[in-house]
Amino acid sequence: MAAAIVRLNLTSAIAAGPASTEFLTVFASELLNLSEWVPRWFTSYEIELPADAEEHPLLHGPSKVIAKESRTECFFKGLGAGSEGTIGELVALHTIENATKSGSLASDARVCRLYGLVVDTLGPHRSDTRVVGMLLSYIKTKRRGILGTLQYVAHEEQSRKHLHRWANDLNNILGGLHKARCIWGDAKPENVLVDNEDNLWLIDFGGGYTPGWVGEEQQGTQRGDLEAMEKIRQWLEQLGDQ
Ligand SMILES: Nc1ncnc2c1ncn2[C@@H]1O[C@H](COP(=O)(O)OP(=O)(O)OP(=O)(O)O)[C@@H](O)[C@H]1O
Ligand SMILES: [Mg+2]
Repeated sequence: MAAAIVRLNLTSAIAAGPASTEFLTVFASELLNLSEWVPRWFTSYEIELPADAEEHPLLHGPSKVIAKESRTECFFKGLGAGSEGTIGELVALHTIENATKSGSLASDARVCRLYGLVVDTLGPHRSDTRVVGMLLSYIKTKRRGILGTLQYVAHEEQSRKHLHRWANDLNNILGGLHKARCIWGDAKPENVLVDNEDNLWLIDFGGGYTPGWVGEEQQGTQRGDLEAMEKIRQWLEQLGDQ
């Protein structure tokens, strides 16, 4: 399946990358109001890698990290170069945060949430501070990386009943998200994680769309999500027939 095509024009603002103080007060307050709603802020000194980090940690970006003070496990999603979806993702995570606070999204709805943002000073000046990544609620999957996504796990699942249950669960999670006025966006099995207890979680609100799951004209809409949901249901049912 092709990678997601990202269409977001707001991103030049992040690429320009103003300084921390300005970032938080000018840019952020104009566009995202980060300082008003992001639940927690960390520097990289305030997070650490777990003891079971990858085999060659120097050559990997961090994935699972631990917030030192609270000992909370998080998934680190770095901004990196070409982070076109970052603004869209933060807007979606903000909507999810608000909807959870107001009760329109159940606090146990299985959607990934923002735990906090990581900022780092990358040069000698105060103005060299940047948001370098998001800390997301950590979803414990049976296998690491892409192998823990529904895209891969579903192929190993033998039980038709189980695949059918997943289709219904996913539909319910998506229904809750839409009720909270949030769009999944790049809806596809690769953006669903299967946790240790075989529950599904929606991840990746970075926008864009993947041909084959969401049609170009429906991208970024509820209709696009629902169109993909139907395709995912059919795909799961076909796997059950094999
Ligand atoms: N909250 C999370 N908990 C645990 N793992 C996560 C979480 N979010 C993402 N991941 C892991 O990171 C992978 C990529 O996540 P995501 O789909 O959000 O990023 P992406 O923007 O599509 O990046 P990529 O292009 O690398 O796939 C997932 O397949 C999963 O392995
Ligand atoms: Mg993804």
